[in-house]
Amino acid sequence: MNVEITCTSIGELSSLEIKFSIPKGSHELTIVIEHPLLVLFRSWAERKASDEASDEASDAWESLSQHSCFVESEELRSDRGLECKQPATSNQPQLSFLELVDERDWNQFSDLLQQVDEGLTFFPPELCEEGVNGTYFMKDKTGKRIAVFKPQDEEGNSKNNPKQESQTSDLNNKRIPTGEGVKREVSAYLLDKEAFYSVPRTTLVNVTHSGFRSDAAVEVKTPVKKTGSLQEYVENDGASWDIGSTAFPVQEVHKIGILDLQILNNDRHGGNILFRKEGNSLKLIPIDHGFSFPHGLDRAWFEWLHWPQAKQPFSAESLDYIHRIDIERDASMLTAKLGMNAETLRPMKISTTLLKKGAASGLTLHEIAQMVCREDVNQPSVLEQIFETASEEVKKESNGSWSPEEEERQLLNVLSRLMDEKIVERIHQKYRDQKYP
Ligand SMILES: Nc1ncnc2c1ncn2[C@@H]1O[C@H](COP(=O)(O)OP(=O)(O)OP(=O)(O)O)[C@@H](O)[C@H]1O
Ligand SMILES: [Mg+2]
Repeated sequence: MNVEITCTSIGELSSLEIKFSIPKGSHELTIVIEHPLLVLFRSWAERKASDEASDEASDAWESLSQHSCFVESEELRSDRGLECKQPATSNQPQLSFLELVDERDWNQFSDLLQQVDEGLTFFPPELCEEGVNGTYFMKDKTGKRIAVFKPQDEEGNSKNNPKQESQTSDLNNKRIPTGEGVKREVSAYLLDKEAFYSVPRTTLVNVTHSGFRSDAAVEVKTPVKKTGSLQEYVENDGASWDIGSTAFPVQEVHKIGILDLQILNNDRHGGNILFRKEGNSLKLIPIDHGFSFPHGLDRAWFEWLHWPQAKQPFSAESLDYIHRIDIERDASMLTAKLGMNAETLRPMKISTTLLKKGAASGLTLHEIAQMVCREDVNQPSVLEQIFETASEEVKKESNGSWSPEEEERQLLNVLSRLMDEKIVERIHQKYRDQKYP
């Protein structure tokens, strides 16, 4: 009898195939025993290869990913938009519960990761009562909160969201597809290269633990592996809606405003601006950026829009910062690092262009934001109108003869021209209002 043992490895997924060949008369009987993981993987991969993104394929995927010893391969990870940029051969030491999705982040996050990992031995993730998603406080070994973990599979309308009563509308899910919030959390941090906005440090991690909630708050007892954003917990004295906004320094309000216009934040309510007393002053800390980079321009609204600070002129520091924002470089960085696609980045490019043009023309944060937000919820904003006009103009000009890339380029050109026109109109209006109040 021949026994052939083959160890197969596809990405990080390894499997075992044992082949017995037994002589039977003039024939040879061959029995192949495969590890079940490989069978599932093959069935999924074959369906995918034949371009059948069918329910069966996703069923196979589900069963595969629920298997306790399944390790998500690089290929599959990037397929779901969470690219692992490096093979598992970096300097990242083995932690018990945590692993970075992009191991290149190790130097920047090693202290936080090690403390969270230690803490998970003693304290399970603590579900935060506030908010609409599965958000967990992670602790250090003394029980102090040091990080906030948001699992991708507990967002919005997903069946694992422990806050089923606060599900978001289908429209919201279309603007920001469920499961894509965690990448947006990280994107807001990545854009804060100079720590101008004070977005807490944020990265993508995998956490394997038995203390998560899922399926409408039924505690899961076996360890599950969840991918999500891990953000440093920031000591604070409350959220902005706990106190009157007049106490906030102008520059602090402006930095939040500039961030929100850059990422086109759709969720800047008062609970998502934390504050901390620093000497005699108050520092603002923006959190919760999962509802930014929307697929659409129709839902921007900002808590600070009518705060008096937003009507003050920008400081030289802010003007310089806005001037230095490089939209194309930022977009390329987010694509390279997180796989953010053109559709996701387009609204961000548009609103940032308006921010840059408006600030350079002397408009205030309030005046720029007024063009981005709807005055009446049922009427399109100025920015939406501009976009509509530009799209129609480009469609007419192209008449189907331009490539999608050329159309996109022309659209951005026309948008830029229409923005300039609207800004000039706004400035004339401003002088008229000042002259004849
Ligand atoms: N980095 C942080 N530092 C300190 N506290 C935080 C941090 N991030 C979140 N929190 C706390 O956790 C709460 C819930 O977090 P977050 O607002 O991000 O969750 P959410 O479910 O997305 O909420 P929302 O209902 O606003 O969409 C916040 O209101 C805040 O009290
Ligand atoms: Mg929130």
